[in-house]
Amino acid sequence: MSAPNGTPEGWTPSSWRSKPIKQSPTYDDPEAVSRATRELQRLPPIVHPREILRLKQHLAAVARGDAFLLQGGDCAELFDYCEPAAIESKIKLLLQMSLVLIWGADKPVVRIGRMAGQYAKPRSSPNETLPDGRIVPSFRGDILNGYELDQRELDPQRLVRAYHHSAATLNYVRAAIASGIADLHRPLDWGLGHVRDPALKAKYSEAVTFLTDMLRFMHTIGADKNDKLDTVDLYTSHEALVLEYEEPLTRLLPSNHSLPSRNSRDSSGNAMTNPLPAYYDTSAHFLWIGDRTRQVDHAHVEFFRGLANPVGVKVGPTTPPEDLLTILRALNPSCEPGKVTLITRYGAARVRELLPAHIRAVEGSEYKRCVVWQCDPMHGNTQTVTGGIKTRHFADILAELQETLQVHTEEGSYLGGVHLELTGDAVTECLGGSENLDEDDLSTNYTSFCDPRLNEKQALEMAFLIADHHRTVRNGKPAEEKK
Ligand code: PEP
Ligand code: CO
Repeated sequence: MSAPNGTPEGWTPSSWRSKPIKQSPTYDDPEAVSRATRELQRLPPIVHPREILRLKQHLAAVARGDAFLLQGGDCAELFDYCEPAAIESKIKLLLQMSLVLIWGADKPVVRIGRMAGQYAKPRSSPNETLPDGRIVPSFRGDILNGYELDQRELDPQRLVRAYHHSAATLNYVRAAIASGIADLHRPLDWGLGHVRDPALKAKYSEAVTFLTDMLRFMHTIGADKNDKLDTVDLYTSHEALVLEYEEPLTRLLPSNHSLPSRNSRDSSGNAMTNPLPAYYDTSAHFLWIGDRTRQVDHAHVEFFRGLANPVGVKVGPTTPPEDLLTILRALNPSCEPGKVTLITRYGAARVRELLPAHIRAVEGSEYKRCVVWQCDPMHGNTQTVTGGIKTRHFADILAELQETLQVHTEEGSYLGGVHLELTGDAVTECLGGSENLDEDDLSTNYTSFCDPRLNEKQALEMAFLIADHHRTVRNGKPAEEKK
């Protein structure tokens, strides 16, 4: 039997099992794992192939330099975050940030939440030493074990609970968007009261005045009655770390699967060709491989090479430039634009040393203008302060972004997006920003169970600063660009 549409030689949803693997769970009861995966296998897809393909088209526009990608959400999403207020605040924040970025970059913005499935965490150590000296298994994310000390054993039924929490979260995202949470006719609260620096305040106010005036103008002329403004696209993503979860949700489907036949015409009424089936990981629209599991001959790259989804790969300080090409050739042999997003995360101090070689390896190959370059300015800038608290400084996050933007401009490539850990809540996990949070403030509302996130104000401020960079470049004060 020949392999379905574009499926690579020798690949099946389970071919990863014959490869070495890092960060993999070792369960005590394999039969309980089989029961859980059989249950997942019969449950319906969480996302639809059509949505996945639409996102891939949007990402192709990002790769060409015609759009910008905003991806953000929790480091570790907990099952407990599956409640309306937490979901709504995240949607609103991503929407608001995207408006600022549209204004700044003068381009459409593609939005992807790190949500509805971001339940697995790679850990540097399998165990954690408690302050009293006891050694317990590390918390590895709600999909594997629980944060509470009596929940640290791996429980296969959590794979099924992850599915249900993902589905319930995405259901509420869809419902909230369909019923107008992203409705731009509503006034938005931009809350700039905390910004004391007059120059920054003036910059941010310019953006807010522009956006508010524009939305009011569209309302006056009735342009906001357009369906497109009542609703926005928000795609979902997570690190596909636990392949026992991803495999049973990977299905061979045509992209128009289960749609009624009247829908097999496009908006102009032309009959659409019946697309050949391909393997879609239906757990989310976009999946990525983490920095700890991107070994070219290991299980995660093997699993990803058969997927029709757009996928990301974290690129860190230990990534050899030649590995990037090996990974791209494995994941995207046909050089499909937008198929792979390279998510760079070096730490502010190392961008200039490491990024140019990575850009040259890719842009000097058959993948020129084919990948999406995205900056994750969070994961290379984590530090531990007094009391063992993990934090990140706003200034370091911004510095990594600015260095990355600068290096792309110098190399003649396009930084297509940002990848941020953020929350819509007023947490105190990252230092600095206009609120000027300091070490003493961290204990006020530190709720992350993994990495520190930007709070609502810090995240919005980051969007203003990225927008400001784009406007400065557009207004003719760019760094030297290579021809
Ligand atoms: C993450 O995105 O939460 C993460 C663990 O990142 P990385 O793989 O880049 O360390
Ligand atoms: Co993280």
